[in-house]
Amino acid sequence: MALSTAQELRTPFNWPEGGVTRIPYRLYADEEIYALEQQRIFRGPVWNFLGLEIHIPEPGDYRTTTVGEIPVIVVRDENGDIHAMVNRCAHKGALVCLAEKGNAKRLTCIYHSWTYDLQGRLKAVAFRNGVNGAGGMPEDFDPTGLGLERLHVEVFCGMIFGTFAAEMPTVADYLGKTMADFITRNLGRPLTLLGSHSQVIHNNWKLYAENVRDSYHATLLHTFYTTFKVNRLDMDGGITVADDKWHHISYAKRATFRESAEYEKSGVHAVQYKSNLAGPQLIQAWDEFDDGITHSIQTMFPNLAIQFTLNSLAVRFFAPRGVDQTELFWFYLGYESDDEEQTNMRLMQANLTGAAGLVSLEDGCINEFVQRGTRGQADRTGFIEMGGRDIESTDSSRATEAAIRGFWAGYRRIMGFD
Ligand SMILES: [Fe+2]
Repeated sequence: MALSTAQELRTPFNWPEGGVTRIPYRLYADEEIYALEQQRIFRGPVWNFLGLEIHIPEPGDYRTTTVGEIPVIVVRDENGDIHAMVNRCAHKGALVCLAEKGNAKRLTCIYHSWTYDLQGRLKAVAFRNGVNGAGGMPEDFDPTGLGLERLHVEVFCGMIFGTFAAEMPTVADYLGKTMADFITRNLGRPLTLLGSHSQVIHNNWKLYAENVRDSYHATLLHTFYTTFKVNRLDMDGGITVADDKWHHISYAKRATFRESAEYEKSGVHAVQYKSNLAGPQLIQAWDEFDDGITHSIQTMFPNLAIQFTLNSLAVRFFAPRGVDQTELFWFYLGYESDDEEQTNMRLMQANLTGAAGLVSLEDGCINEFVQRGTRGQADRTGFIEMGGRDIESTDSSRATEAAIRGFWAGYRRIMGFD
């Protein structure tokens, strides 16, 4: 029987006093809560990122991914329509597609050769009528109910989303207008895939969901940002949270930099070293938009982020791989309209944040440090009061954890932990 409330867990869960300003460390390490998340969140009323349209441009193209832990196939059929289904044979439950990507006319499970079409319908069962007149399926065998389990699919700004929920608002309505408009700013034209990579980080997936909403840490931990003035809190910027608080945008405007003594006063490690870049082309950039925003991170609940740092446009997708492990995927993007010089600049700037760059390496470390620092202390909590206790948008500061509180507000609601 499905668990229905926090009180029905073997160890009942009560959110401590202080609401979303106090994050119980149990949530990073509890197997039972992790299992409940798979049902409540990933099989629940969310739009899950499944990949990009440009991942599967041709009929028959497919790629495999996961929704939570559930393996999923995303495929473009003969007519160009995109489908998503659970990568689980209706017979014995084996993976049907084994490759990360490919092109196929039919999808065949290697275990017993059950074969599906690109909409996931069961089309052939090996030895259905037996062999030499003996064996085979019963007379009344009906393959129609034995297709691959389907997800509802919607494409928004070149991103493919899927949901198990029977009734969902459109992706744009799920995001709300402000969030949808900013995604359209960044991704709402023909895209090119410049490259991708993935990394395993050794922490609960929600620590990364917090980390990408954490505008407070960005210029403290990431000394490169601060030293080379890519992103600092003494630039104009702010936080915009979605109406329902689940998603957010953090942004900065590099041209407005006015050096604040706070970095020096706070003993921030970045300002103690006077460094120069041997390769200044790393941060050579051009202004792409007339809104002045040169750095942005946007999140979409539960496990997606879109970054636009200088000209480095990337989608980050972080998938749970057990209670204390997460796989982080990076997809670097350009526009079809880019010229060669622009493409080269985007590729160069990809080094700022990717797995080989400083930012992602630091985030991978720090999230693991939290996972390790909180181990064995399920009854203790984090303290999340920077910027106040509310979850409001602000255009005057990013010294705030409002977006993190917003994530937890959404988490509490969807998990039934209110
Ligand atoms: Fe970070």
